[in-house]
Amino acid sequence: MNPHPEVEIGSDARDAAERAGAELIAMVQSAAGDNRRVAIALSGGSTPKLLYDSLIERSQHEAIPWQNVDWFFGDERCVPPDSSESNYRLAHERLLEPLAISADRVHRIEAELEPPALAAANYERDLREYFRSRAEARFDLILLGVGAEGHTASLFPGSDALEETGRWVLSVKAPATYPTTDRITLTLPTINRARAVFFLAVGVGKQQIVHEVLTTTEPIPNLPAARVRPGPGARLVWFLDKAAGG
Ligand code: 6PG
Repeated sequence: MNPHPEVEIGSDARDAAERAGAELIAMVQSAAGDNRRVAIALSGGSTPKLLYDSLIERSQHEAIPWQNVDWFFGDERCVPPDSSESNYRLAHERLLEPLAISADRVHRIEAELEPPALAAANYERDLREYFRSRAEARFDLILLGVGAEGHTASLFPGSDALEETGRWVLSVKAPATYPTTDRITLTLPTINRARAVFFLAVGVGKQQIVHEVLTTTEPIPNLPAARVRPGPGARLVWFLDKAAGG
């Protein structure tokens, strides 16, 4: 468990995203220097737009070895990939296509498959197959956001999925208040195996939940984002703007 997350507070949302982007690029460049591939899982929601725009901006001014990266997703809504609800669609339009990332480097969650349990099983099989060729079955970086009630990826408070210990990927139900309730998500053990986890949260609407997550002393809080505790040696970094950082 990483009891002491790093917290980086940017002057505004763009600065927070630029800081996260700089760390991601440094990780990619370092791995390329060691001739290592990097497995990155992208987060969902709308905040990643800021990060994607920052990465595109940086790529316009310097050569970044994106060919060393294999792209994954931390979660997905059970919608077609061209849906406005799709986390893949946002990443494809705002990052992967502009960077001309080849399709064989993008591991999309085929969340439109029915039933959702099949989509979860397929993605887990893809992950297990991919990591079979790697020294360790752990992402180099998992990007996450946080919801106002403390969810992260598609792990929601009170969900049985929070207690999963064996599976890498599950199909879950988001609360009925969400536009798409059927979801596919990485499990906590998979997230906590990562070498690095970056949260990106901006805006005053996230201030309360960020404070709760960063200050809770509960051993098993009912705040999924507070149960993201990567192992020893792993990095846990919260990239915030002043509004979210309080
Ligand atoms: C999703 C995300 C989810 C998201 C948070 C924050 O599929 O919705 O994975 O965990 O990161 O809900 O969303 P915003 O960035 O839109 O605030």
